Amino acid sequence: MLKTGYEQLCKLLNAIATWRYFKPVVFVGCAVPAVLLSIKVIASAWIPSWIPLVDSTIGGLGVDPLKTLLHESGEDGLGVLLACLAITPIRRIFKVNGIQKVRRMVGVFAFFYAFVHVGIYLGLDQLCYSVATCEFRSIVNDVLKRKFIFMGMISFTIMAVLAITSTSGWVRRLKKKWQTLHRLVYVAAISGVIHFIWIQKSDISEPLMWAGWLTLFLVIRVYFAIQKRRVVPARIRP
Ligand code: HEM
Repeated sequence: MLKTGYEQLCKLLNAIATWRYFKPVVFVGCAVPAVLLSIKVIASAWIPSWIPLVDSTIGGLGVDPLKTLLHESGEDGLGVLLACLAITPIRRIFKVNGIQKVRRMVGVFAFFYAFVHVGIYLGLDQLCYSVATCEFRSIVNDVLKRKFIFMGMISFTIMAVLAITSTSGWVRRLKKKWQTLHRLVYVAAISGVIHFIWIQKSDISEPLMWAGWLTLFLVIRVYFAIQKRRVVPARIRP
């Protein structure tokens, strides 16, 4: 009974992953947070705030637009990054190889949101829209003195390297080293979650939930790696 339920689920997931519109649908899904955030920005800028639609229905950007923008883009970046990390466990558990084809795209989307997040911090918080206004000293101080910013920077730097080397050209050039390099995605996610935990002043339930998911994906990954080592006979191991 349980086995047939599992087999049915595997079949369903395989059918979804091989559906011709699977990739476009995942693309749209990843783009939705960006569209929603843009609508909020446009609504806040163009629709007078006394119209109830802005603050209640669309949400607007609230009383502190910069904070809202930072929070939403940060959560989108981390959320999409974790969604990317969920792909391999789903593939392994439900034997759905077709899902792998969206992994690179989802990873690049995660970097896109992180890029927007850091862009908002630099452009709006540190006024780096021009060299003359940019608070370079304040940025250096932030990185050195606020440990959550330092963690965010580690996460962002890794994500940038992974996004740059995600192309087929880099896969060919780096050969086996590519896989090793791209395992750093877990370091990016761990530092992203720590960044989130350190920002919170009291309630850390939300970042802890992200930490729980991340731990689950890591445990599954390690479990399958151990299984693989057991299956491959010792004599053909390098
Ligand atoms: C140079 C890199 C980064 C900088 C300077 C930075 C800066 C910030 C700042 C200033 C905040 C708002 C803090 C506050 O409310 O007081 C924030 C929030 C946040 N950032 Fe970053 N960040 C960086 C990288 C990242 C990356 C790579 C991720 C995702 C992987 C991320 C995810 C988040 C999250 C989830 C939040 C909190 C959202 C919330 O409270 O709802 N950040 N970041």
